[in-house]
Amino acid sequence: RGKRAFIAGVADDNGYGWAIAKSLAAAGAEILVGTWVPALNIFESSLRRGKFDASRKLPDGSLMEITKVYPLDAVYDTLEDVPEDVKANKRYAGSSKWTVQEAAESVKQDFGTIDILVHSLANGPEVTKPLLETSRKGYLAAISASSYSYVSLLKHFIPIMNPGGASISLTYIASERIIPGYGGGMSSAKAALESDTRVLAFEAGRRHKIRVNTISAGPLGSRAAKAIGFIDKMIDYSFANAPLQKELSADEVGNTAAFLVCPLASAITGAVVYVDNGLNAMGVGI
Ligand code: NAI
Repeated sequence: RGKRAFIAGVADDNGYGWAIAKSLAAAGAEILVGTWVPALNIFESSLRRGKFDASRKLPDGSLMEITKVYPLDAVYDTLEDVPEDVKANKRYAGSSKWTVQEAAESVKQDFGTIDILVHSLANGPEVTKPLLETSRKGYLAAISASSYSYVSLLKHFIPIMNPGGASISLTYIASERIIPGYGGGMSSAKAALESDTRVLAFEAGRRHKIRVNTISAGPLGSRAAKAIGFIDKMIDYSFANAPLQKELSADEVGNTAAFLVCPLASAITGAVVYVDNGLNAMGVGI
């Protein structure tokens, strides 16, 4: 039977999550996605109305099928964690079972098991502020949405993951080098995500035979990246300074993700894999 993947963090056809879904679909996987609750309606109606059809096209000419879209808010683990004002919010009240625990339960009810778990989401409300101007609340929110969300997803999905399965997340080099403009504690959140990748690889490997890796991706003009405000500058910088002077396409990250979660990568776990045209290897821009 083909593999089944749950990809958290797909809400349009521009980001890395979408590209990963396509690469996995092209390799024969069944695709389930988790979509942030406030973005759910527009994503589902755009899908239905055929707005993404051109970008659903796979190399063999067929269209990627998304078997099911699950509402998800990865900053809440269980229903008890959800504050009253969020529960009452119109966009949230319109759907249900979107905490991490409930989403995993729904997937279990619908499909029993999965083989692949992808975390392609991040959020930092103060990302445009330098770290020195970031509030405690903003910093913790960045860590909650961008780092703990992965711990929580893996924790709740591991019980329904088949042994031999694999999981990946997306990180950014601002975790280890200074990238002015990537603020609000987002650089800290990515550092946590990378460190957690190693510890989770150990725990999930020993207990469940599941591999855990993260892709350190180069800059892409996604919706999330545009909200930071400096993405065009980062893309230009990469083009000018990386060993490979070409645009980075989301598909290149998607294809690496498909490799990392497949048996060809059976001895790779706990790794940070760079998919950035080699920019990480440069010492100075030139
Ligand atoms: P994107 O906008 O396609 O993906 C981010 C997704 O996170 C969105 O679909 C958004 O709805 C979702 N999201 C935000 N808060 C959420 C929550 N609480 N619960 C559930 N979903 C939530 O943008 P992109 O850039 O493709 O981001 C995907 C991953 O790639 C992120 O981890 C990002 O940090 C990482 N990345 C992006 C780079 C870039 O230049 N775009 C570079 C390196 C890493």
